Amino acid sequence: MDDLGTALLLNPEMIMMGGGNPGRIPEAEALFRESLEGFLVDDRARHELLGQYQSPAGDLGFRKEMAAYLARQYGWPLSEHNIAVSNGSQSAFFILFNMFAGNMPDGSNRSIHLPLTPEYLGYADCGLSDEFFSATRPEIEWLEEDLFKYRVDFSRLNLDRQAGALCVSRPTNPTGNVLTDEEVNHLDELAKQREIPLIIDGAYGLPFPNILFARATPVWNENTILVLSLSKLGLPGVRTGIVIAREDIIAAYANANGIVNLACGNIGVSIATDLFRRDRMAELTGSLITPFYHQRAQQAVGAFRNAFGDVPFRIHKPEGAFFLWLWFEGLPLSCQELYERLKKRGVLVVPGHHCFFGLKEDWPHRHECIRVSYVQDQEKVRQGVAIIAEEVEKAYRGG
Ligand SMILES: Cc1ncc(COP(=O)(O)O)c(C=O)c1O
Repeated sequence: MDDLGTALLLNPEMIMMGGGNPGRIPEAEALFRESLEGFLVDDRARHELLGQYQSPAGDLGFRKEMAAYLARQYGWPLSEHNIAVSNGSQSAFFILFNMFAGNMPDGSNRSIHLPLTPEYLGYADCGLSDEFFSATRPEIEWLEEDLFKYRVDFSRLNLDRQAGALCVSRPTNPTGNVLTDEEVNHLDELAKQREIPLIIDGAYGLPFPNILFARATPVWNENTILVLSLSKLGLPGVRTGIVIAREDIIAAYANANGIVNLACGNIGVSIATDLFRRDRMAELTGSLITPFYHQRAQQAVGAFRNAFGDVPFRIHKPEGAFFLWLWFEGLPLSCQELYERLKKRGVLVVPGHHCFFGLKEDWPHRHECIRVSYVQDQEKVRQGVAIIAEEVEKAYRGG
């Protein structure tokens, strides 16, 4: 994680295929600029933006707007009491995970269970106690050509008494996987049976930013905690996340948020409220964001296919988010060593083994994968792909 933050400072020429920054979409930036300019010229709006603390659950007007938007879109029975704001969804995960897992008041020790690993690296150090995550190894489904897909392996998924919540990102960072509706419904049933919540991280999903190239029905019910973010819309700098949950969970979350953050920032919720009111959210996601990333995903898959030649590579089917997850079966090096070699060549990727936290069993597969982001400047991505292909080929040749 440190490398992702410091690499550009140490080497400005570094080809950044490791980080989670969204791509730049000029038309989307124009929509954000219009909103901001509108606030700045209006005395009251400017004061509300810069001169006021909100309540720990977040701006009431936004929470009402968000509840109404989700009720219109999906028919979910929500009010402002089901919605809370966070300073980025990352901080919401920190609070929620530690509400449901760790050392509990009754003396038990609970874990957050990841029904499908690999999962989002940003969760890995969120726990305030040891053994915080547990995870189930997935089934691998072989698809056409060089593609594969991870599936939840329900035959291995054994929820012991320790699990305090289930958590999945959908679409998944790092793989671009999208859990099927059947998988999500099955997890929902299991969570209800065990009386633990199912946390769904929709940072890339529906209703926004909708970086989805596969069919997926968004899910919410009283046992689900859906966490959204404005970051992948193109607004990571405003640090805004949104929690949608049962009223008692929102109340507990808001109490904790008040302690950690006092209040959340206003800029993100103001822009989002303005987009809802001007009815521009659907245009932003459907006409700009989804096609931009879909095209980039296809270009990246094509570039790797051209570059790899005879190398025995596989790509997780890109169904959403903006990463390719590459698997080199039987790679003579670990993915960590490959990462080091690539870094020396000026290309930064994420070595996959970090994303298997919580998985107790040894599984060679975890050392055979890397995550590559394809959203940066296209010429840089092309150069990066060529270097990755050279290094992987060399490694298979024993070099
Ligand atoms: C799957 C996933 N969840 C959550 C986050 C946190 O995002 P933010 O704190 O910017 O909302 C990220 C960031 O990359 C992510 O990839």
